[in-house]
Amino acid sequence: MHTMKAAICKRYGGPEQLEITEVPKPVCNDNEIVVRIMATSVNSGDVKLRSLAVRGFQKIIMKIIFGFYKPRRSILGTVFSGIVEETGKKTTRFKKGDRVFGMTGFRFGTYAEYITLNEAGIVTRMPASASFEEAAALPFGWHTAIYFLEKAGIRKYERPNILIYGATGSVGSAAIQVASYYGATVTAVCSSAGRELMEQLKVEKVVYYDRQDFTLLNEKFDIILDAVGHTTKKSCQPLLKKDGSFVTVGGMDMATEKIEHLQLISNLFEKGKCKAVIDKVFPFSEIAAAHRYVDTGKKKGNVVVSICDLPR
Ligand SMILES: NC(=O)c1ccc[n+]([C@@H]2O[C@H](COP(=O)([O-])OP(=O)(O)OC[C@H]3O[C@@H](n4cnc5c(N)ncnc54)[C@H](OP(=O)(O)O)[C@@H]3O)[C@@H](O)[C@H]2O)c1
Repeated sequence: MHTMKAAICKRYGGPEQLEITEVPKPVCNDNEIVVRIMATSVNSGDVKLRSLAVRGFQKIIMKIIFGFYKPRRSILGTVFSGIVEETGKKTTRFKKGDRVFGMTGFRFGTYAEYITLNEAGIVTRMPASASFEEAAALPFGWHTAIYFLEKAGIRKYERPNILIYGATGSVGSAAIQVASYYGATVTAVCSSAGRELMEQLKVEKVVYYDRQDFTLLNEKFDIILDAVGHTTKKSCQPLLKKDGSFVTVGGMDMATEKIEHLQLISNLFEKGKCKAVIDKVFPFSEIAAAHRYVDTGKKKGNVVVSICDLPR
């Protein structure tokens, strides 16, 4: 039996619960491809699942869905970039050697050297000009930002006025770019620690929440996106236009992954309209340290893990 290295989560708890170990290498069936993973990312969702640091009722729901004492799917991680190593007999979309990226959703499994994927899943060719690290930094924040801004009706406006609260996270930094792509005027809210990133993303208006109360702004918005889930519709209401929309990542609504979104991300990257915001890159052997860093809740953009540092 062939084996591969993977980081498994032994129990819910701190980053020390992650352990790199040898597991069976997956074999693809007729409709699947095998991808040799080159990079993955550690996202807010991964650390939430590993730690189960959520309140009362949510904790019970998560235990029912994901497992009582440890995640049933012990290899965490939902985002990957890599190279197609094998294709199933009935597959047609990919060939060996294609550079691909994508998401696995509740199947997880990307903290590993290899993964099998249904070729009809959320996987497509990487932007040709992207590195594996960049490609792994894109899907999580971008697909969430596209989902919530579309939910808020961004497409119906010609030049919407949008406020993004929590603008420096994975979702927030992507939302700035998605909003700009749709022709929006963007006001970003973040702490002073986000100044450099806001300059890099060329945000026109920034409110630093450690210096100014954004709810006192004398301006009305078509859309307010809370990209960290720390506000409420009620607290933002005075800033909303009469028919404006408030959307938050902090509610019960889960962003659904769509292949069209992944293709849009790829196209925009090629056109230079989408930047991969990478805070740090960790080697696979330091995946626990990557989790420790994301646990701070203060990362800027994305934390990437390079899978190719271990001898194969
Ligand atoms: N519903 C869904 O489908 C869905 C999908 C994806 C993510 N989420 C949720 O969305 C949230 C954000 O995800 P993410 O991956 O973008 O997180 P993240 O990258 O870990 O966010 C980190 C950023 O949050 C900012 N932040 C922390 N506390 C803040 C506060 N009180 N006010 C404003 N900004 C604050 C920090 O910037 P400052 O230094 O400026 O504070 C930091 O840059 C998470 O709770 C995640 O679970 C939901």
